[in-house]
Amino acid sequence: MFIRLPGRLLIVLLLLAGCSGKKSSIQQEDRKWWKEAVVYQIYPRSFKDSDGDGVGDLKGIISRLDYIKSLGVDVVWLNPIYSSPNDDNGYDISDYRSIMKDFGTMADFDSLLKGMHDRHIRLVMDLVVNHTSDEHPWFRQSSSSRESPYRNYYHWWNEERGKPTPRWSFFDVNSDAWKYDPVTKAYYLHYFSRKQPDLNWENPQVRKEVYEVMKFWLDKGIDGFRMDAFQFVAKDTMWPVLPQGYEQHIIRYYGMGPHLHEYLQEMNREVISKYDIMTVAEGAGSTLDDAMSLVDPARHELNMAYHFEGMDVGNFDPDYNLLDFKKVYTKWDSAFEDKGWISIYLGNHDQPRMLSHWGNDAPRYRDASSKMLTTFLLTMRGTPYCYYGDELGMSNIKFDRISDYRDISTINKFMHLRQTGGDTAAFIEEQKRSARDNGRTPFQWDEGPNAGFTTGSPWLKVNPDYVTVNAAAEEKDTSSVLAYFRKAVWLRKSNPTLVYGKYAVLDRDNPSVYAYTRDDGQKKFLILLNFKAAPGSFILPAEIDLTGAKRVLSNYPAAGGGQKTAEKKATPGGTQPLRPYEAVVYELSPRNSD
Ligand code: NOJ
Repeated sequence: MFIRLPGRLLIVLLLLAGCSGKKSSIQQEDRKWWKEAVVYQIYPRSFKDSDGDGVGDLKGIISRLDYIKSLGVDVVWLNPIYSSPNDDNGYDISDYRSIMKDFGTMADFDSLLKGMHDRHIRLVMDLVVNHTSDEHPWFRQSSSSRESPYRNYYHWWNEERGKPTPRWSFFDVNSDAWKYDPVTKAYYLHYFSRKQPDLNWENPQVRKEVYEVMKFWLDKGIDGFRMDAFQFVAKDTMWPVLPQGYEQHIIRYYGMGPHLHEYLQEMNREVISKYDIMTVAEGAGSTLDDAMSLVDPARHELNMAYHFEGMDVGNFDPDYNLLDFKKVYTKWDSAFEDKGWISIYLGNHDQPRMLSHWGNDAPRYRDASSKMLTTFLLTMRGTPYCYYGDELGMSNIKFDRISDYRDISTINKFMHLRQTGGDTAAFIEEQKRSARDNGRTPFQWDEGPNAGFTTGSPWLKVNPDYVTVNAAAEEKDTSSVLAYFRKAVWLRKSNPTLVYGKYAVLDRDNPSVYAYTRDDGQKKFLILLNFKAAPGSFILPAEIDLTGAKRVLSNYPAAGGGQKTAEKKATPGGTQPLRPYEAVVYELSPRNSD
């Protein structure tokens, strides 16, 4: 119940609140549910199979909603579940308004959404509108005749014009984004695979169709969209020749094309502004200004974006440079300090597993390094995106043979190398670190056959480490990676300081420890993370006093012995040692706040 106060009394009360004690830096109007959310990403093919066909499905997810709830997360992002011939596992959509047969029916979808909402979990769906499948009725029509009313839904280059200006393709065996179609004697554009023709966003009819699709799902009650490859939708249709080697800097040349902001503002006017939803762009251009231009609230475009720069650090080298990593995250945080919002993630369906990529999957370090990375994700400022299975410490499967891979990206690169006499053996070795299928193996529910994922034959092999790394085993162990994940989520959810508080990096040049504070004037946290397998240390700055600090989260027992032993804390200017992959979060006593 709200109590109405006379205006003047309200102002006096607000002034008094402002003068009394500490002021929070969080303005009420800046608080948003999607900033405070913890997102859990589910790759539906691999989460839980309910009917034994080896492919995860919606009923499978429904059967595990209580598990998802138990994690403490409050938003689920589902990778595409629409009808698709699956050239790129659902990112090639043949009908935006129906559910892929492998995954179930619209009735299953409705029960899934209800089940989530009953548990106060919101649902964000993938919106894939840079391209459709070549089996989508629009493309079927478009490719049937040059006179088709759908011709202009896609980008065509008639053969009389000669060869099209070269464009590079992410997944094409020959990296060629133009495919010749003999039926109408023209080439069509596909930035991704040949079965993923790019939509022509210059055509207002295409945009209108997309807005109708968005409304269809929003009217069902979903809570937002993750917008696939959205920075690529706007193209320079004068098709200028791009400089030599442009494909090495593809985002610079393909991202943020002409009219992108006009399209987004139109979409915002027509759809987004009418719902209380979360909208997150995949990719954020190639500069901080690009990213800001997508999410600056004054521009009325999107809520948040995720950038790729963090993912690019070290190029999958397990010995990546922590200084570069810190620099990237610090730079991105500071660019959004005053306005705009970003997300934080360390893995997703396009990446290898978080543990193998950024931590250490050797049995000795799996536990500590998974927990350390979870601590990072849940104590940074952007909205954290946690990828299914990372809460257990799942790792890269590291296939030895190309026949084990299912991902078009790996398979087509391999074919290209084979056709051109490249080093396929070196490629297979490299894919053990970088391939997307590493992050797509089935969820490890228990130690039964196929890790309890399916009673059939799984579409992608289960990681053999499931015998020890599985949810059932971790449920029984109060010190498991899973138990820690829940504690870290709870810590974030119960402390708005960890969402909104100012981030300040400490000891920038420390090559193994990432240390920072989060401070909103109400509370202050110090986060110490040793990113290395060797012991590290951190020199406590003079302005930070650990006396009276509470150790609110850590992945090791207190230093100096068991939990009961008094913890050794450094004095200002002193050295705080950190064990391999140790993570500690201190809540500092009030005297540390400005
Ligand atoms: C980005 C998606 O995350 C990826 O999985 C997909 O292959 C491409 N976009 C094409 O849709």
